[in-house]
Amino acid sequence: MSNQAINPAPQPSGTAAQTSAPANEPRYFRRFTTGQMWMHVILFSTFLGLATTGLPLRFSESPWARLMAGAVGGFSAILAFHKFCALVMTVTFVVHVFEILKRGILRRDKSVFWGSTSMVANWKDAKDLFMHMRWFIGLGKKPEFERYAYWEKFDYWAVFWGMVVIGFSGYAMWFAPLFAHFLPGWALNAALVIHSEEGLLAILFIFMIHFVNTHLRPGSFPMDMVIFTGVESEHEFKVKRALEYERMAKEGKLESRLAPAPTKIGINLGRVVGFTAIAIGLTLLGLTISAYFY
Ligand code: HEM
Repeated sequence: MSNQAINPAPQPSGTAAQTSAPANEPRYFRRFTTGQMWMHVILFSTFLGLATTGLPLRFSESPWARLMAGAVGGFSAILAFHKFCALVMTVTFVVHVFEILKRGILRRDKSVFWGSTSMVANWKDAKDLFMHMRWFIGLGKKPEFERYAYWEKFDYWAVFWGMVVIGFSGYAMWFAPLFAHFLPGWALNAALVIHSEEGLLAILFIFMIHFVNTHLRPGSFPMDMVIFTGVESEHEFKVKRALEYERMAKEGKLESRLAPAPTKIGINLGRVVGFTAIAIGLTLLGLTISAYFY
């Protein structure tokens, strides 16, 4: 979920004249706006907070869960932190949805809903998925991608699914007396099961699939920095999003996306934040697996 993530039209942070590199220096292109990068930071921080607090609530009998609860003043303190992260995540999500609706409906920007830069899945995504599977088993050519590949769209919409299912069930438990006015009693019990299972699924998906897809695959290993720096090199752009690169070159719009090279400080900061997030994720993954054995 990121600010203007459906067909974002990132503004170049400098003019082509300011940003075009000397002939022998690699050129960089903007992929994400500062707003989108911040939205991602808030999303993954609150997600890590929700996972770090939700797992000890779920596996409260495990020694590590008791240790965590003891360290912060009990399970009620853990739940309070869980609710705080849930609120921040919900507000961020609602802001994003309003922005999308503003662009798509009020400004009548049709590219939000369809076209090569929309986040809405299309027939090409289905074909790409099929071609990719064939390529994985050595039966065909690797597909080339537009601005957003099918798995990036999947990750994006997964947040919407999670907010509706996990969010709704979470608020139903939090404000049970209020929800009891229009939900039967059994639905409130079901909310805990749904929340718990969907929460665990989201945690496993992010820490196992999303981490591997975005950071550990060849070409991105050990970490794809584009979400932290907002820019990618021309080589990365051409290789990872060949169709977008070709389309923009044909339309004569490439220059408008030129951006300054990321600074050393920016890259190192991104690395520290990114590796910390991955370390927290992998630790939680290990604790979750251990909870089934101990
Ligand atoms: C966004 C809105 C959310 C709200 C309002 C919310 C609220 C809550 C509440 C009130 C509980 C305590 C349930 C009880 O009384 O035992 C809880 C538990 C839990 N939450 Fe959330 N939560 C939210 C999002 C998430 C997310 C995104 C995850 C996953 C990363 C998650 C994972 C969990 C887990 C694993 C539990 C423990 C369930 C159990 O005891 O089996 N929650 N949540």
